[in-house]
Amino acid sequence: MPDQATLNHAAQVIAGISADQRADTALRFHFEGRRYLGAREKRAITQAVFAYFRWLSWLEPKASPQKRVEQALALHERFRTDEKAVKAEALAVRAVPDWVAGEMDLPADYLRQLQREPALWLRARPGRAHALAKSLFAGETTKLAPDAVRFTGTQDLFKTEQFKTGEFEIQDLASQFVGLACNPQPGQTWWDACAGEGGKTLHLADLMFNKGVIWATDRNFKRLDTLKRRAARAKLFNYRTALWDGSAKLPTKTKFDGILVDAPCSGVGTWQRNPHARWSTTPDDVRELAATQLALLNHVAGSLKPGGRLIYAVCTLTRSETTAVADAFTAAHPGLTPEPVLEKSPQLFLWPHELNANGMFIAAWSRQG
Ligand SMILES: C[S@@+](CC[C@H](N)C(=O)[O-])C[C@H]1O[C@@H](n2cnc3c(N)ncnc32)[C@H](O)[C@@H]1O
Repeated sequence: MPDQATLNHAAQVIAGISADQRADTALRFHFEGRRYLGAREKRAITQAVFAYFRWLSWLEPKASPQKRVEQALALHERFRTDEKAVKAEALAVRAVPDWVAGEMDLPADYLRQLQREPALWLRARPGRAHALAKSLFAGETTKLAPDAVRFTGTQDLFKTEQFKTGEFEIQDLASQFVGLACNPQPGQTWWDACAGEGGKTLHLADLMFNKGVIWATDRNFKRLDTLKRRAARAKLFNYRTALWDGSAKLPTKTKFDGILVDAPCSGVGTWQRNPHARWSTTPDDVRELAATQLALLNHVAGSLKPGGRLIYAVCTLTRSETTAVADAFTAAHPGLTPEPVLEKSPQLFLWPHELNANGMFIAAWSRQG
């Protein structure tokens, strides 16, 4: 049973989450103001907050906030010990908001996966996955991706020597497939157009063995600053950063061997890890983001060299942001040919229940000639 202090802290965090805030951000603020909380207490509070949003539609609306957190934890425990105790029909109507059924298929296995604790994936430096798993004492490699390690321990990864010396990045398995789908070669010139904090840039840089150049652009300079710190830790130098707001005014006249558009999206693919977002994301978000995604693709398309490869990735599974964007882009660009992604179809969905990771959509094209 959770103790009263955990329930109180969790209820306080939940009450304080603002409309445009993520639960993990609210938790971070809560902990920053309460340095006396130890690692175990913080873990228990975090689990309670996440369980609350995972089981929200099952909770008694009129119960006190603490009682509702307690109910969520009890439901979560019941599900953990016997997943079949929660019927697939109940999951279909309660685990996700109603509007989602109009945007994507909802297989029972997917809905069940949404209610499980998410796996934590690391990306080791090239060829070092086994060594990393061994040195962390709590990691498993996988045949699915060469450098991926599923972390199964509880230590604070940011405090490990391996993290400080750049031996790994925390990167979801589905995101690692995006880098692998790009398949950049040493010496090439790539553009990571929505580079953010550099998760994919660093992967591309590693795959290029630090040779060639990656233009890493984003509209948010703070994110690019984080990218630079991460690149320094990983000792990766084959990149340059520039601000780009996604408009038709491009940051460079360079023509690229490859372009990655890891576009802003509704994040439906992260709903297992981030259950609060199930209730804060709206159909309007999906509509607006789909328009932004298509505009980003249209704007970068002219920067691809003949023979160059364009990759579109979004960590969402809604039709509007995935196949609809990719199909509209294909129709508008006869000079670009859809290409297989990871030797599969040109439009690839990665499902959380198949990978034990985030959901992701990847599409690819190459410029003729
Ligand atoms: C999915 S995130 C990128 C994550 C990053 N590639 C990584 O692997 O860590 C999308 C990024 O697009 C940026 N973005 C959002 N709208 C944009 C726009 N209109 N133009 C350019 N970048 C934009 C955001 O700042 C955000 O960093």
